[in-house]
Amino acid sequence: MSVDPSTSTEAGRSRQSTTLVTGANGEFGHGLIRALWEAGHRDIVALDLRECDAELRPMCRETLTGDIVDDKLVDRFLASYEITTIFHLAALLSTRSEFNPEAAHQVNVGGTLNLLRLAANQAASHGEVVKFLFPSSIAAYGIPDLEAKAKAGRVGEGEFLEPTTMYGVNKLECEHLGRYYMQHYRQLAKDRTSAGGVDFRCIRFPGVISAFTVPTGGTSDFAPEMLHAAAAGKPYACFVRPDTTIPFITMPDAVQALQRLAAADRSKLTRCVYNIGGFSPSAGEVADIVRGAFPDAEISTQVDEARQAIVDSWPADVDDSAAVRDWGYRPMHDLDKAFAEYLIPNIRRTAEA
Ligand code: SER
Repeated sequence: MSVDPSTSTEAGRSRQSTTLVTGANGEFGHGLIRALWEAGHRDIVALDLRECDAELRPMCRETLTGDIVDDKLVDRFLASYEITTIFHLAALLSTRSEFNPEAAHQVNVGGTLNLLRLAANQAASHGEVVKFLFPSSIAAYGIPDLEAKAKAGRVGEGEFLEPTTMYGVNKLECEHLGRYYMQHYRQLAKDRTSAGGVDFRCIRFPGVISAFTVPTGGTSDFAPEMLHAAAAGKPYACFVRPDTTIPFITMPDAVQALQRLAAADRSKLTRCVYNIGGFSPSAGEVADIVRGAFPDAEISTQVDEARQAIVDSWPADVDDSAAVRDWGYRPMHDLDKAFAEYLIPNIRRTAEA
């Protein structure tokens, strides 16, 4: 890891109270940093492998270029910042991870381990609990076949935890690591004073659709790709069958969920890991809605059997009653509102600008 001070917008400040966001350049990073800024955060330090996008810089106290896999990251951050909250978003998504599973493990698990160690060291250093917000994924599930998927209904957090992708395996492993750091870290060490230095909070996200960005390297990408291709007047060959169904939420709802979980009263949280759902259209329904909004859209189907099998192993719906009960999860957008009020108008506006 090299934290390159030349890319820091405000290098040299030391040990200021800090909210660290990793994976800042990703589509989730963009959405979250803007929302944190709008909510009044002026303590954001953004980290990405590449130089942070120009539009993020005014919203961040510092922007840093560095690799979360390099374990020297922890030492440098420890010396320079007083981190109170970490939003650890950096990851390689499911399709991309299958092309180099070992590298994916290094980034997705090795990187998370580094950040958890940073959180534990920070907590020990400044004596306050460090909140660690982690986006897990619907990919943590692995349902054996379509018959079981149809029967499964709203899948609970403890069911079907046999993911078939490296990304899903990584996310599940990170969920366990987070729970370990929160509850059992160094449980036999003589100098251990108490557990609880890391306050790990995790959401298993469904597919996320943004009106402004397109994901890279995921397997739920067929829905956002279909929509953005149509808006750009480009033909799109969908890589899953029209009956394929998984849950989706909009980016504003995903960001708001993460903020709401971050703000929740710890004493109300009965779990480390929460499902959240949204709406569950089939790929064919998404295509119909997109055609309704963009009548010239050219959407065809060209099934990629391997990617199809991945999506088929993910639930069609999840049980998010614990999130609703414990921290008031309440998405703004159902299927109709998502397209009619958020996606289509914003995509049109951007195209006209
Ligand atoms: N969007 C992710 C992916 O497709 C799933 O969480 O990899």
